[in-house]
Amino acid sequence: MTPAPSLPPQIDEDQLFRLLRQLDETPDVSQRVTAKALGISLGRLNAYLRTAADHGFVKVTERDGPDRRQRYGYALTARGAVTKNRLIDRFLARKLAEYDALHAELTGVGSGLVPLKYRSKFMQNNLAPIPELYVSYDSAQKLKVEAGELTSHDLTPRQVCDLELLMNGGFNPLKGFLSEKDYDSVVSDMRLSDGSLWPMPITLDVSQAFADKIELGQDIALRDAEGVILATMTVTDKWVPNKSREAEKVFGADDQAHPAVYYLHNTAGEVYLGGPVTGIQQPVHYDFRSRRDTPNELRAYFRKLGWRKVVAFQTRNPLHRAHQELTFRAAKEAQANLLIHPVVGMTKPGDVDHFTRVRCYEAVLDKYPQSTTTMSLLPLAMRMAGPREAVWHGLIRANHGCTHFIVGRDHAGPGKNSQGEDFYGPYDAQDMFREYQSEIGVEMVDFKHMVYVQERAQYEPADEIADRENVTILNISGTELRRRLSEGLEIPDWFSFPEVVNELRKTKPPRAKQGFTVFFTGLSGSGKSTIANALMVKLMEMGGRPVTLLDGDVVRKHLSSELGFSKEHRDLNIKRIGYVASEITKNGGIAICAPIAPYTATRRAVREMIEQYGAFAEVHVSTSLEECERRDRKGLYKLAREGKIKEFTGISDPYEEPESPELRVDTENVDVDNCAHQVILKLESMGLIAGH
Ligand code: PPS
Repeated sequence: MTPAPSLPPQIDEDQLFRLLRQLDETPDVSQRVTAKALGISLGRLNAYLRTAADHGFVKVTERDGPDRRQRYGYALTARGAVTKNRLIDRFLARKLAEYDALHAELTGVGSGLVPLKYRSKFMQNNLAPIPELYVSYDSAQKLKVEAGELTSHDLTPRQVCDLELLMNGGFNPLKGFLSEKDYDSVVSDMRLSDGSLWPMPITLDVSQAFADKIELGQDIALRDAEGVILATMTVTDKWVPNKSREAEKVFGADDQAHPAVYYLHNTAGEVYLGGPVTGIQQPVHYDFRSRRDTPNELRAYFRKLGWRKVVAFQTRNPLHRAHQELTFRAAKEAQANLLIHPVVGMTKPGDVDHFTRVRCYEAVLDKYPQSTTTMSLLPLAMRMAGPREAVWHGLIRANHGCTHFIVGRDHAGPGKNSQGEDFYGPYDAQDMFREYQSEIGVEMVDFKHMVYVQERAQYEPADEIADRENVTILNISGTELRRRLSEGLEIPDWFSFPEVVNELRKTKPPRAKQGFTVFFTGLSGSGKSTIANALMVKLMEMGGRPVTLLDGDVVRKHLSSELGFSKEHRDLNIKRIGYVASEITKNGGIAICAPIAPYTATRRAVREMIEQYGAFAEVHVSTSLEECERRDRKGLYKLAREGKIKEFTGISDPYEEPESPELRVDTENVDVDNCAHQVILKLESMGLIAGH
């Protein structure tokens, strides 16, 4: 039991805030020391502690430490930490208002400091630290033990990225995953319910089964993929979102050609949980540790070097000479220092991996004049949301102590929609950024389109070349660069730096030396396995790369022996095949898969898994149901018709035909050898095998 208070416990917000902060920073000191630090009597402290414990902010424990005179210990709970974080804002707001009033009294005008809801503007000064959601190291050790008992959620890679930026202040002013009210307001108006600008829903999506176990008010532990507890969250909200509405409003269209919309419908869980987060530890990164900085670490760095103006460059691509020129020009124009701030969390599927990119960036850093430029890696999971994303990127940079931000043509663009058109106009992002610039708190520097002028052997902004009729303007597009890399062609020195090209060539050998996957799909008995076998033999005859055949029947025997033919089991089976094929592809081999794979969405998921590492050629073996049934090589169609085999593809279960496979082969009029040859020709035309 806690000692009885001698005074009625009247504790106001400021006193509670000070108490919680004190307990967080020095949880193990005696009450006498705590009372002294707070400037109050022991009796009053006891009363405060009692109140805080009654509210669940503080946990009381029996002490068995050396200090026998004091029987009880007090530690901050997850709820106490959340309250402390909330009170920091209120405390600051009140102090700001007091300061403003004082300023007005002394000078006759307000201080010009804006209300807290526009906090990024108020923090425009890149010198002051910003609030984080972490508790102190000592409190974290205690909370971790407590959190071990809680129901826990295993975070997805995207959620780990989001959580890291929530905890370290990169997503300030968010204090956790969005509540339903904030979510609705962000989705429809790009604002939190208190009015502050926030364009991106940061939500904790979970499965229905997990959500069913959670009650409102419950604390849960958030763990990374290895099971390490990174944070706790007090669940205040649980709801089933309208994903189509989210897609329409946030990404501009409910079109699954948009990677984030695809993610929303196919990867994200059905239910969202919201609530404040208490940070226990940062996610562990083993790569490029010295290049990773929290917002406060960057602010401290800028402070140390006296960098009052900093222009940030966001990128998910390797930097070439044109980027180096434009970033340097942007910094000169803004009379600022430069921060290369590449995203290393999650970018667009198919991008160059971040290991390669960081090695490239390090090579480019040497090309800037000394002490003008630095680089830091940002663990952000991008959504490719164009204009909204640009505003979000700006807010994140403001939190990282930057004062300027470069916004380019088609910033964070997701590519084409399912009609083959761009999702956003090329300058939508710049327009939206300009509109919200003062609230974001960083100034936009427009991206200049830099081109190489051969006669003058230098880069110049395309729109500033007066004599364009008389000079030779050179440029290599991203697509052209990828083509040259994949075909092993020359990349000129005027375009990039030799160190960068070397790194890219190491990671991306020409296509004819990369791994790839051929994925046959078609009805049972359509001839998939026969053609796949013939193809394997032909590829082995050519040599050069190891070839593995993942045939439907063989996989079911060795990898998926416990699975049946429900949709769920089929999906699992195909995803296992996709995983193995992606590993083979990643390591430079050829994987040939030959399952039925009846569902479009699952085939697409497999394609995405593989295309991160190499090419994916989908081959539809289009033998008709009538023909398969006529052949009935295994006698299964007969059994299926008699109802002796349930859920049989084509008879009592669906087969969704691929709409645009790389190749369709027809076994009804063409023999196996010829079908396999057609695949070889296709692979040749894709540059995956050298001509013979
Ligand atoms: S799936 O849908 O992709 O997971 O199927 P797959 O792993 O390729 O397995 C298909 C082989 O299993 C046999 N079989 C069935 N097929 C379809 N539906 C049902 N209900 C079923 N039951 C058994 C069938 O022999 C398939 O082999 P193939 O080589 O395709 O003829």
